[in-house]
Amino acid sequence: MTKKNKTSKISPKKHTKTSKSKRFLYSFTIHYKSILFVLLFLIISITSYLILQKEDLGPLLPKPPANAIYKQSSQPIEKRVEDLVSRMTLEEKIGQMSLVDKNSLTKIKDISRYNLGAVMSGAGAKPAINNPQSWFDMIAEIKSEASNSRLEIPILYGLDANHGHSNVLGATIFPHAIGLGASYNNELVKQVAVATSEELRTTGVNWDFSPSIDAPKDIRWGRVYEAFSDSPELNGSLGRSYIEGIQTADKGGYVLASAKHYLATGSMVWGSSNHKKFKIDQGKTFVDDNALSNEYLPPYKDAISANVSSVMISLNQWGDERIIDSKNLVTEKLKNELGFKGIVVSDWYGVYEYSKTNKYEANIKAINAGLDMTMLPYDYKDFLKDVRKAVSTGRISEGRIDDAVSRILYQKFKAGLFDVEPRVTSLESIGSQKHHALARKAVASSAVLLKNNSTLPVSVNTKNIIVAGSGADNVGRQCGAWTIEWQGIDGNWIPGGTSILQGIKQTVNKSSNVEYSLDGKFPNMTEKADIGIAVVSEKPYAEGWGDNPNPTIDKEDLKAINNLKQIANKVVVVIISGRPLIITEQIRTWDVAVEAWLPGSEGGGIADVIFGKVPFVAKLPISWPANTKQLPIQSNGVTNDNSSVLFERGWGL
Ligand code: BGC
Repeated sequence: MTKKNKTSKISPKKHTKTSKSKRFLYSFTIHYKSILFVLLFLIISITSYLILQKEDLGPLLPKPPANAIYKQSSQPIEKRVEDLVSRMTLEEKIGQMSLVDKNSLTKIKDISRYNLGAVMSGAGAKPAINNPQSWFDMIAEIKSEASNSRLEIPILYGLDANHGHSNVLGATIFPHAIGLGASYNNELVKQVAVATSEELRTTGVNWDFSPSIDAPKDIRWGRVYEAFSDSPELNGSLGRSYIEGIQTADKGGYVLASAKHYLATGSMVWGSSNHKKFKIDQGKTFVDDNALSNEYLPPYKDAISANVSSVMISLNQWGDERIIDSKNLVTEKLKNELGFKGIVVSDWYGVYEYSKTNKYEANIKAINAGLDMTMLPYDYKDFLKDVRKAVSTGRISEGRIDDAVSRILYQKFKAGLFDVEPRVTSLESIGSQKHHALARKAVASSAVLLKNNSTLPVSVNTKNIIVAGSGADNVGRQCGAWTIEWQGIDGNWIPGGTSILQGIKQTVNKSSNVEYSLDGKFPNMTEKADIGIAVVSEKPYAEGWGDNPNPTIDKEDLKAINNLKQIANKVVVVIISGRPLIITEQIRTWDVAVEAWLPGSEGGGIADVIFGKVPFVAKLPISWPANTKQLPIQSNGVTNDNSSVLFERGWGL
């Protein structure tokens, strides 16, 4: 019925008889009705909008009282977790299960709006100005936004500090893990991790996505240097020390560590990568149950015995199954068999990468397999909606969600996030003298003397020293990838860093003459130099971008070595690389070979061992193949073709 029809029903006679006041009352009633109608319409629209956007209802719920059990530090953690979980809506729980990259956050307000559990800096995601103060400010803002959420659950801020707080300009850059592995020194590894953790905490970072306890079997892989060793014992034992160091409590709180990449990462088959441009990274492993139990699970047992807070699942497949989808590997083995009580977190986009299903199904599969926190990193709104839908349709049980959230909250309570006052420390510990000195010690302890034809140590009084090679004056190459940028930066630019050339100049006596040229040519030299030092290097690379069918020494560097040989009595070759390189032919003609790995910002540590200020103590943490046909090499040293390696694990003069 139209409005016109309605009014036409009123008798015109009656109308004419109506008094003035009655007419007024009549028109008022009409107005009143339409106002009511508009109000009703508005209320219905707003309510249905809020119902559709259900996550917005969170803030409308009452805040918990100040004396809620979970807010009382005197209560046992289990009770606090139980109390907090019982107060959470489903949306708040799913929010806690999300780990979002800071560059993917659409609005900072989303942190409190969705009750996000964690934010991270993917490699290279840094504040506009890269200095310690800006990092501190950026993370403080994120933490403060998290405290605006209804339940005020503190947020985790995570990143990869795998060789120091290496995203931050000015931080101390320690050797990559393979170098620490060569030290075989648990105490040193722990000290490095404590120093890293201190630098992290001063900027507010409370989650480190390391250590890697992968087992590199094939030097062609681009991530060899991220692991300590291919030996399960050494990997497990140094991994433990690293975790203890990172998770060292300081004024009640600590940084969470993450053992990664679960499981059997490093044993993938060359050519099996799922990634179009990679060869082995993100590939498939075919190891049997026996190897899983005897070789790949033990380092995780060690990590768990060190109370590691989180374990990151790899992007690999075990046979045809993605590890992230495997309930057997994630829930049965890791959680039930090994008794892991911490957070299972996925790798970068790991739930969706190479999934044969859509994202909705991928979330269901991974969470049901045992995943607790999803490193999204982009599509967090879709994740929140999908998981909510999956719970409401019974595809994911509420019990699984409660288990995941309880694990996350337990680790947050345990690390002191709910109780410890934000720490106001000076940022001076970042790149402090103390940490640089420790890094220099770590460099000297990680350099392996592979060959020495009665040449080392070189006297600090040597008259004429000539230096050459791509790695001689290049702190960027010393540091390798995961330094400021994901793929690292080639060049001599890291503030506070010392190149090997500078280290040599600082170490020798003033009477010594040190000359440098990149290509090893010194046209103005009139007599032969006493010693030539060639520092050869790999360009920085990370992950599958470093997969290389034939890792060996660069041609220009070989020329530089040969040029030095013409004009120096003896030549020392120092190799900067993230893995053993194929040098079987070349090394025969060298007087000295030193593997320096990726030593980081302190080139002085290499000068220390060359000039005998500190003795060589390091040993190979991994076998050194003679050729690529020998790959992969099993952790017991057996090569693919049963031939002998160039140097066995444990070698070092
Ligand atoms: C790597 C992880 C890393 C994560 C976050 C991934 O690409 O595989 O090792 O922790 O990114 O940066």
